Amino acid sequence: MKRISGKNLILIGFMGTGKTEVGRLLAESLGRRLVDTDRLIVEREGKPVREIFQDRGEAYFRQVEKKIIGELSGQSGLVVSSGGGVVLDADNVARLRESGYVVWLDAAITDLEARLAGDTTRPLLAGNTDLAKLYGERRPFYRNAAHVRVDTTGKPPLAVAAEIIERIRGGT
Ligand code: S3P
Repeated sequence: MKRISGKNLILIGFMGTGKTEVGRLLAESLGRRLVDTDRLIVEREGKPVREIFQDRGEAYFRQVEKKIIGELSGQSGLVVSSGGGVVLDADNVARLRESGYVVWLDAAITDLEARLAGDTTRPLLAGNTDLAKLYGERRPFYRNAAHVRVDTTGKPPLAVAAEIIERIRGGT
């Protein structure tokens, strides 16, 4: 682990890039605790993300998310799977980058469209969201926040996790 030692390992990226599953595999392989920011928000609020957006609005969700990022950034040795929108807030980005190694899971839009088809849990996909447009708007934020980008297109989560471990062990 020479590149990250005790620091946090943070996964960022668009919805459907596999942050939760890859995070789970990384935590297992590295013997670290996994924290999934969406899951923490759901636990604290006692309702699914979709309902939080519906009842309290996106701004409220972002406030809770920001508080959680602040808390996690004060801890070390975690694997953090973050929600796709954390990078929209500059304070979140600064905190995450200070607290660890930030890995951007990216994927081709065609892959994301396939992975997200029929999803009813994500509020940003409700209605006729232009996924390609949102993806295009988000990419500069992920690029700006990340220490490294990993292309997950066509790769199973296990292969992605192995690639990340290779990188943090000092490979490419
Ligand atoms: C969001 C992504 C979701 C969740 C919320 C908002 C976003 O997380 O935090 O629906 O703004 O991209 P996933 O990236 O885990 O789907």
